[in-house]
Amino acid sequence: MIKNEALESILETIDLRNDAPAEEPLRQYYFMKKAREIVSDKSRRLGRRLTADGETFGCQMNAKDSEKLIGILKNIGFEMIDSEEADLVFYNTCTVRDNANQRVYGRLGLMHSMKKKNPHKKIALCGCMMQEPSVIEKLQKSYPFVDLVFGTHNIYKFAELLVAMYSSDGMIIDIWKDTDKIVEDLPAQRKYSFKSGVNIMYGCNNFCSYCIVPYVRGRERSRDPTDILREIEQLVSDGVVEVMLLGQNVNSYGKTLDTPVSFAELLREVEKIEGLERIRFMTSHPKDLSDELIDVMKNSKKICRHLHLPLQAGSTKILTAMNRRYTKEQYLELAHKIRREIPDISLTTDIIVGFPGETAADVDETIEVVKEVEYDNAFTFIYSKRTGTPAAAMQNPVTDEEIKENFDRLLKAVQETAKKRAGRLTGQIQSALVEEINEHDSALVSGRLSNNTIVHFPGDASLIGKLTDVRLKESHGFYYIGEIETGN
Ligand code: 5AD
Ligand code: SF4
Repeated sequence: MIKNEALESILETIDLRNDAPAEEPLRQYYFMKKAREIVSDKSRRLGRRLTADGETFGCQMNAKDSEKLIGILKNIGFEMIDSEEADLVFYNTCTVRDNANQRVYGRLGLMHSMKKKNPHKKIALCGCMMQEPSVIEKLQKSYPFVDLVFGTHNIYKFAELLVAMYSSDGMIIDIWKDTDKIVEDLPAQRKYSFKSGVNIMYGCNNFCSYCIVPYVRGRERSRDPTDILREIEQLVSDGVVEVMLLGQNVNSYGKTLDTPVSFAELLREVEKIEGLERIRFMTSHPKDLSDELIDVMKNSKKICRHLHLPLQAGSTKILTAMNRRYTKEQYLELAHKIRREIPDISLTTDIIVGFPGETAADVDETIEVVKEVEYDNAFTFIYSKRTGTPAAAMQNPVTDEEIKENFDRLLKAVQETAKKRAGRLTGQIQSALVEEINEHDSALVSGRLSNNTIVHFPGDASLIGKLTDVRLKESHGFYYIGEIETGN
């Protein structure tokens, strides 16, 4: 990320009469300046500012990418609004399950009719779904009114692509199959002033057999630790107190760097950053979670007491077919070790139901793990066949009725253990990072505890972004009601 003032002084030196430079990120600075001219020219003719809206689907990675896209849009002169009526709408898409794709197609239908009313309207699509060749074919055939399509590897080129889009009448498509490039130092618009996601790596090399991510996000690439530390220091100097380190598999961070660094080592360095109060990370793969990491978490004052440890399935047979590379017993041993070493930790997980060949007995084993680990929360998904993944070619699909039955049984077990875990902090005083005024009651603010549970308590906007000691008075399942602890 680059600060506005620094970027402005670079932009001043750029002469648009010259050709665009080849090297990045200079090339993008050139196109940002060029895009500014286009946007201000259009605004002048319309007699109002051009508006833009970004709609984000999917995970934290996409949310982070959208902050980068919005940073570029604001920089080139768009006014960001929260309405798909905007002059430019981008959809940052997800494709991890098919229903995410269907939602995008649904929205595009709506966009088509809006576009007929606003001839200046432009529609851009980006993100994971665009990395699938079948999606591009479908867009070309059935949604030709889309103006710009790009993927996950070239979001840094947004300014250049916008210039191309405004200079052309047809659909601009720019999709890269993979990349080894990491382009830094572009603007970003953070959603929260006090907390931020920080990419530490991109892509995934695990190839779990059901998962499309390795195909749409490419091979694993770790960022240089000094770049990560520099970015966090800059964020802290801007008022950020909590960072979320992002990667598809953070536990394998740094293995492919010229000078390999472990994730635990990176965390030790992040911990040293003065002014940073909290560290979170997402997502951990059980197979790579080291004793060193457990040790660093245990002894850390800043790493939050929450670990998301996707299980996916509890039967070793299904885990093997999923290519998860751990057994039920290995997972349980790891979960027990974590609970033993860090007793106040909150454990959450992801589980898939209905993977090819999964029987009721396999789901019984998943339920066994749920009961034994006692997750604080679990996200349960119905298996979705993704074209091109090894699981898509597997025989033995599970019927809808079986899936429904198994899913309901699993959900019941998940809810029971979550209920058992909920409320265990009642009566305690805990530090909460206040995030916002409560949506339903403006006399309350909502904050997040170290273990990721929400607490609502009386307070006002002056508390937003502050770590505040709160007495947890009542538990309501996934949240607490509390009051500020004054120390009296
Ligand atoms: N079908 C259903 N769920 C999936 N996930 C990933 N791929 C699929 C799929 N094809 C789930 C996994 C992962 C979470 C982000 O999404 O549980 O951890
Ligand atoms: Fe997908 Fe597995 Fe990589 Fe996670 S670790 S992104 S589930 S392939």
